Amino acid sequence: MSLKMAHRAGAIEPFHVMRILAQARELEAQGRSIIHMEIGEPDFPSPDPVIEAGKQALDDKLTHYTAANGLPELRQAIADQYHLRKPLAADRIVVTPGSSGALQLVMAMLLNNGDGIMLADPGYPCNRHIARLFNAEVQLVAVDESTDYQLTVELVEKHWQKNTKVVLIASPSNPTGTLISNEQLSAIYDLLEEKGGALVVDEIYHGLVYDETPDSALNAGDQVFVINSFSKYYGMTGWRVGWLVVPDDFIEVANRLAQNMFLAAPTISQYAAIAALGQEAEVELSRRREVFHERRDVLLPLIEAAGFKVRTKPAGAFYIYADCSEFSNDSMGLCDALLHQAGVAVTPGADFGSYKSNIHVRFSYANTIENLQEGMRRIQKWISNNQ
Ligand SMILES: Cc1ncc(COP(=O)(O)O)c(C=O)c1O
Repeated sequence: MSLKMAHRAGAIEPFHVMRILAQARELEAQGRSIIHMEIGEPDFPSPDPVIEAGKQALDDKLTHYTAANGLPELRQAIADQYHLRKPLAADRIVVTPGSSGALQLVMAMLLNNGDGIMLADPGYPCNRHIARLFNAEVQLVAVDESTDYQLTVELVEKHWQKNTKVVLIASPSNPTGTLISNEQLSAIYDLLEEKGGALVVDEIYHGLVYDETPDSALNAGDQVFVINSFSKYYGMTGWRVGWLVVPDDFIEVANRLAQNMFLAAPTISQYAAIAALGQEAEVELSRRREVFHERRDVLLPLIEAAGFKVRTKPAGAFYIYADCSEFSNDSMGLCDALLHQAGVAVTPGADFGSYKSNIHVRFSYANTIENLQEGMRRIQKWISNNQ
């Protein structure tokens, strides 16, 4: 008898971006030049003070488990970097293996079988995939430029179902880079209090917002769950360290589940993360934010000039979500053609949901300005040869 995998595993879709990346690498191995505009992580390595702190932790032989909810000094440093109306107690912070660990923890705490979780479409794919692993019902709500690609209190109210339990918002969003306003967050928070639902906000791209400094959703009230990470702004994707802020009533259960689900986040990475929150790293990280800012301002007009439509200016992250209907109603096919014929890797909308995903692609500007300009030159040329 052949062994069968669990239904839940069969139902999880692959990432198209990973296929594109693998094909891009294959083409490069054959000697082709490929411009990468698909990648979802900073092109910079971790800042030097982070690397030094990681090395020091190894030299000091700090290779044992930490407490399940993380090193106390790291939790305190995380709490201290928030500028909130009310100080945040370090007790409410659980350090996790990336924000992916935080996402799993929060879903494990909140979702029973068949409970609904409301998510914006387009949105970060793992949210819906992990929710399905927890046997939750994924309730996707189509969003567009009229709400800056974010849920609103009206949309939450309209799409609320009897089994809805959690509303998850990512601000800035992946793939659109757009923010939710403080007013909307507060209104959704109040509505959920009334309905007995939980608000979870993913702030992983908060450090990478360019024209303003966004407020944390923690200001909305004491019952909000906030996910964050050292991956993106701090340039530490490979270290696998993130965090979750939980309401007081969930401190004990979060700790208990963390003990069971992953024992602790990687110890060396936690020491490195303390350095990421220090003054020295901050100087470098602010400089990098300005580099991303400049890249966005260079790339956005080039994308528009090529004939793609960007309906809301992205406020942050390093993505631009663009309508490609001028060229194709099959964004997957378009991405394949751009990769193989133009030598530019871009992510198809299908990775982020189903609402108009066939006419959208995501450009990442985690690449140098020279490469972004060259990528758009190649795309322009491909368009003039193929339209
Ligand atoms: C919106 C969003 N949330 C969470 C993650 C997970 O990141 P990590 O587990 O590296 O913290 C990503 C990664 O791309 C993301 O884009």
